[in-house]
Amino acid sequence: MTQFTSIFRDDLFKDKVAIVTGGGTGIGLAIAEELAKGGAKVVIASRKMNRLIPAAKGLSRDYQAEVLPMQVNIRDLAEVEKLFDDVLAKFGRIDYLVNNGGGQFFTSAEAINERGWRAVIDTNLNGTWNMCSTAAHKWMLQNGGKIVTIVADMWRGFPGMVHTGAARAGIVNMTQSLAVEWASNHININCVAPGTIISSGMNNYPPMIVEAAWRVIPAKRLGKPEEVAAAVCFLLSPAADFITGETIKVDGGGSLWGDSWPIADPKEKPDLAIQPWPEDRWPEFAVKDDDKP
Ligand code: ADE
Repeated sequence: MTQFTSIFRDDLFKDKVAIVTGGGTGIGLAIAEELAKGGAKVVIASRKMNRLIPAAKGLSRDYQAEVLPMQVNIRDLAEVEKLFDDVLAKFGRIDYLVNNGGGQFFTSAEAINERGWRAVIDTNLNGTWNMCSTAAHKWMLQNGGKIVTIVADMWRGFPGMVHTGAARAGIVNMTQSLAVEWASNHININCVAPGTIISSGMNNYPPMIVEAAWRVIPAKRLGKPEEVAAAVCFLLSPAADFITGETIKVDGGGSLWGDSWPIADPKEKPDLAIQPWPEDRWPEFAVKDDDKP
């Protein structure tokens, strides 16, 4: 396990039940760890049980916590509904939903094909909608709850990842609408927008992007998964009971300054120092047909 020091009280999340998608690795694992340290029962859910099982075992052992792995493809509404039914059957309540599962790949806009575009929109935007709306209908509209979705640094557009920028901006707007519509149901719904974080998702980016990132971040370093987890757990905690429809940036100032995309002179073909990530390096969900809707 990552074994970072928590600023939160040991029993802050005692008796609470949380679902964290993508909770087997990287940022999702750090969020699950912070919740488990605080005494929550945590369901970590994603498509790959082989990543979830060791993570759940490790957290259960290290924190004497109840951490369960469950398989779900968030793009598939029937699978999402079954996940919520299974969690309710096991624990009888759902206090927190953390939408961390998602994915994208680095590419110029002109190189994206239809399947790649649809896969990223479907996973990130539709998948998050499936989770929020099912959480609401199965539990939270009646009982209240807190939802936090991980988005991205797409505040000045997201050149190099237009698909995920569009999906994440859609999630921020969806979050604002749901915050208003569900306020009287005692549901708080917010987002956390990480900048460049040293985590498992980095395998999907060209090494030169990762290497160059620190130069354009005012903090002059990349972020850590536990720094994102701390913001998420603050929003889940009672300290944030009056916060809803908000997005907290955890990016070392990266959204405010610096350029990440070389601009070609007009009429010239861009001489990109940064080349798009070749299709044979795209993550499998973006190129494989088998789980298309
Ligand atoms: N993480 C990335 N893609 C996912 C998906 N489709 N379902 C659940 N977790 C995911």
